Amino acid sequence: MSVIGSKDVYEIIKKTLGIINAKIMNHGEITGYILYKMLEYEQQYTEQELVDYTMLGILHDIGLYKEDNVKNVTDFETKNLWPHSIYGFLFLKYLSPMDDKAEIVLYHHLDYNRYGLIQSKYKHIIEYLNLADKMDTFLHLREENLEKDYFALHRDTKFSGAALDLFHKAEAKYGITAKLVDGTYREELSELLAKRAFSEQYKRGFLEMLVYTIDFRSEHTVVHTLATVNFAQQIGRLMRLSGKDLRDLYYGALLHDLGKIAIPLNILESTGRLSDDEMKVMKAHVRITEMILEGVVDNDVLQIAVRHHEKLDGSGYHRGLTGDQLTLPQQIVAVADILSALYGKRSYKEAFSSDLIKKIMTEDAENNKINKNAVDILMRNYDKVIAEFEKEKESTIGLYLKIKEQYAVMIERFEAFN
Ligand SMILES: [Fe+2]
Ligand SMILES: [Fe+2]
Ligand SMILES: [Fe+2]
Repeated sequence: MSVIGSKDVYEIIKKTLGIINAKIMNHGEITGYILYKMLEYEQQYTEQELVDYTMLGILHDIGLYKEDNVKNVTDFETKNLWPHSIYGFLFLKYLSPMDDKAEIVLYHHLDYNRYGLIQSKYKHIIEYLNLADKMDTFLHLREENLEKDYFALHRDTKFSGAALDLFHKAEAKYGITAKLVDGTYREELSELLAKRAFSEQYKRGFLEMLVYTIDFRSEHTVVHTLATVNFAQQIGRLMRLSGKDLRDLYYGALLHDLGKIAIPLNILESTGRLSDDEMKVMKAHVRITEMILEGVVDNDVLQIAVRHHEKLDGSGYHRGLTGDQLTLPQQIVAVADILSALYGKRSYKEAFSSDLIKKIMTEDAENNKINKNAVDILMRNYDKVIAEFEKEKESTIGLYLKIKEQYAVMIERFEAFN
């Protein structure tokens, strides 16, 4: 039995991105659904390909989540064609399990009559995605963004006529628009994604992509999440936890701060002490994490994620539970979270020296705040644990910087395209 089902991975993505911006998520789902039905009509794709392309359709505007305050998707899109296409491409290429298909997203706004300029073995999928994207805009009659006779005027210049013909055939056969109107397309999407059992690696890939995409708003958070996962795993291994517990630790730690997506950046990245009111907002991230994960992930993982701020003496939040109510994996993630916060550089503090970190954590353990065995074993292996984390950090931060660098190069090249 797997801790997170294939369909649930999609549910988590949907809920999380929906909290950041429901409009983009909605647009993505509809676009993904239209693309899926067009491809289904052609009957020449494997189930895995159908799932991959549909997921790409759903996530095609993922580059937009990077921006704060995106109000109107289409409005924003038309003014920022390349930035969000390039970010989406880079996120998918470096962070998702669909790296080789990421270029489909890169070109989703390219005019059809310029396809000669690009090389891609996915040109037909790009054509269909481009059409599906416009079809959603058109169906919503956002005339200010798409002329009424758009499809009559721009056939084979802005979009592929063959793709439009395919859409009409699929519409006649499946009644796509009716399903969009009555909302049943959502179940169909869930069914498609549930049919296919994702490998553990594929699921981890998607969840990591989600976490890092969100965290792209704040570099400190990326490192913090990464460190918490790494430290929790290492402590778990040192304490000889079972394979299941280690897997729960991984997912619980990876998802523990997901709720921070709903916390405003000025609080998340605040450089000073938070006021009482700001602290209240900050603490709400645990409840938001709970809201997203409830009913979607295995209960063991859920509880690890939502109890990372509980203390053994009952002084933590948000339930004020005590040590006898907290399992060992839950207590380990709490320790890992603290170590990660102390060790890392955050917006409000520099990294602490190892002596200071050891002192604080030992005191916490002695004052019955956090698990003493976990802290003891961590102190005995401190240098090794840190060294191992530093190794992994290099590659992830490297990736993060690489995405930023490549973005700068690509944006220059592509803006010249227009
Ligand atoms: Fe777009
Ligand atoms: Fe779009
Ligand atoms: Fe937290």
